[in-house]
Amino acid sequence: MPRGSPSISSKLLAWYDVHARSLPWRYRPGERADPYRVWLSEVMLQQTTVTAVKDYFLRFTGLWPTVFDLAAAPAEDVMREWAGLGYYSRARNLHAAARAVAALGGFPDTEEGLRALPGVGPYTAAAIAAIAFDRKASPVDGNIERVVARLFAIETPLPAAKPELKRLAATLTPDRRAGDFAQAMMDLGATLCTPRNPACSLCPLNADCRAYKDGIAATLPRRAPKAARPDRAGAAFVLLSDQGNVLVRRRPPRGLLGGMLEIPSSPWGPPPDDPLSYAPQKARWARATGQVEHVFTHFRLTLEVYAARGAPQTAEGLWLPLADLDAAGLPSVMRKVAAAGLAALGEHGFGRR
Ligand code: ADE
Repeated sequence: MPRGSPSISSKLLAWYDVHARSLPWRYRPGERADPYRVWLSEVMLQQTTVTAVKDYFLRFTGLWPTVFDLAAAPAEDVMREWAGLGYYSRARNLHAAARAVAALGGFPDTEEGLRALPGVGPYTAAAIAAIAFDRKASPVDGNIERVVARLFAIETPLPAAKPELKRLAATLTPDRRAGDFAQAMMDLGATLCTPRNPACSLCPLNADCRAYKDGIAATLPRRAPKAARPDRAGAAFVLLSDQGNVLVRRRPPRGLLGGMLEIPSSPWGPPPDDPLSYAPQKARWARATGQVEHVFTHFRLTLEVYAARGAPQTAEGLWLPLADLDAAGLPSVMRKVAAAGLAALGEHGFGRR
């Protein structure tokens, strides 16, 4: 087991002072962090990669520079800007948390206070407390789990190893600069201590790393075998009316893609025997070439896409002008469906913004 935790943290902080990634929500040592920007970035980073988050972060902070601006924004606008980041319940929580913070007059500055905000779990509360308020807190994300599993050569597979990795991460956290330390661990995990082919020879902690010493760094952390994702199938219907509008519907507020717009489709399950029986109305339906594939957390979806144009607007739903569809905030799976259906109708402009 590595000895001398203070020396691990001081080595890592010295490395971070030189090698920290420059990210739009980052602050230089000594600069006061804006908890709004820290919170927003951490909630977005729960969803996807640093690279993908950058643009969303800049767009959100451009539209809503403070938590009070975000709190005052219409929910529709927030949902629309969130589209593509996935899990819309997170966007709803984001907006609810902004309103709660605005009502409080500012962000709580303890882990416990932060935990009370909608959508803020133990990881996010610890990250904000450390990064924005310089509290001694230890957020543990996937990168940090990997770094810690290697430093201590923990061979217990994930997820069973989580509590132990969390406890060990806390033993490494310094009294000062806990936020920089957490971000240094994240950066180390993202740039050198990578899942495959870690660059151990460049690592500032290689002398302290038990897995490196044992020659097993690249094999850690171990993982329990994953349950296979079941396949689901369905048919989706892109309908362009004689007035140039596309039929969309709003999904129920709870559940998968809750509250988001969708292109009408059959239920998602075994492949439908008679897909056209699920069409929203009569029209001259034609099969688009290819299928849309989309991987959700718990299943893999394959959709056949049918398209028709020139139909009267008889089906119930929202008939959106074709030119507005791109900016309407369709979730990614539905963007793929729209692109396939519209291409089959000879409309190639969608998705080019
Ligand atoms: N992943 C989650 N939070 C992060 C942060 N603050 N910096 C870099 N990567 C992160």
